[in-house]
Amino acid sequence: MAHSDPLASAAVEGRLCEEFAMPSHVEEVKKLMAAFAGQHGAAGRRVVLITSGGTKVPLESRTVRFLDNFSSGRRGASSAEHFLDAGYAVIFLHRHRSLYPYTRRYAGVNLLDSLSFEQGGEGAERVLVDQQQLPGIAAVLRRYQAVKATGLLLPVEFSTLSEYLHLLKASAQALSSIGSHAMFYLAAAVSDFYIPASEMPEHKIQSSNGPLQISMKMVPKMLSPLVKNWAPKAFVISFKLETDSSILLERARRALATYKHQAVVANVLDTRRGYVAVVTEDSRHELVLTDEEAQKGVEIEEKIICNLAAAHTQFMSQHA
Ligand code: PMT
Repeated sequence: MAHSDPLASAAVEGRLCEEFAMPSHVEEVKKLMAAFAGQHGAAGRRVVLITSGGTKVPLESRTVRFLDNFSSGRRGASSAEHFLDAGYAVIFLHRHRSLYPYTRRYAGVNLLDSLSFEQGGEGAERVLVDQQQLPGIAAVLRRYQAVKATGLLLPVEFSTLSEYLHLLKASAQALSSIGSHAMFYLAAAVSDFYIPASEMPEHKIQSSNGPLQISMKMVPKMLSPLVKNWAPKAFVISFKLETDSSILLERARRALATYKHQAVVANVLDTRRGYVAVVTEDSRHELVLTDEEAQKGVEIEEKIICNLAAAHTQFMSQHA
């Protein structure tokens, strides 16, 4: 189906409204995002909406079990830091408890093992941080506090597929006021399958009923209404993940031809930290992280953001 067709976009929107219940907090979050975009847009700043992490797809309405995926949120969290370094204001639409900018560097560290007490005067105690256990913590804390003080990062959480879909629509509408100053960087790993509420059992599925067979429907691709209706002037980047590298570029090109957005960042599951291709209608940039760079702590996201920020500048000059 050609999603660039306006009727297809309308069909996707229709399915979003009918099949995915809108969470009650979406309107409130939309106002926050619109105010954030308005404030930074008025200051001449670009705003990027980053999606990050996987989505949770419930199997029961009183959910005990759900389907999830591999995404850690590292791509999104690292990219957020590099966009901030490049002068963007960032809306970070991320999966609850996935990796978060700055704190991501210490995920997996037992914080309590990095702390100790020091006795001060008159019985006072101070807590000391072992900087060997938390490498670079002073610089990271400084940057985190500066970002917080300047209000350049707006975090928004989702857990379920429904929350993700409605918040993405709300964010796109909230950013439409700043036109080509807005970028969408869709790095989340969104489920392609779900069970409609009308077909979902209410209570915990009983193992005593024997092996489980489930039938799932296709999730509508949100890129279609996003590009056509919700934020038609924005600079939109989708991601394409494959496990078979031989089909990656063809799939990336097909996505561009279908949705007619600006670029696809193509990556393969096993090599995603060291290689991506940024594919546009008429170009392909292969970005590679060398072993030497990796050892120095350089991240591939720095190269991705450098490439996309330059392309965004060009896009803005053509769509002023
Ligand atoms: O989080 P990490 O562990 O660091 O991993 C990073 C990553 C591999 C998740 C990331 O680099 C990545 O590739 N994210 C997209 C993965 C993916 O799900 O691709 P896809 O082929 O299923 O989807 C293609 C695009 O369509 C995505 O940009 C997605 O935002 C969009 N989409 C997907 C589903 C949907 N219903 N609507 C959409 O618009």
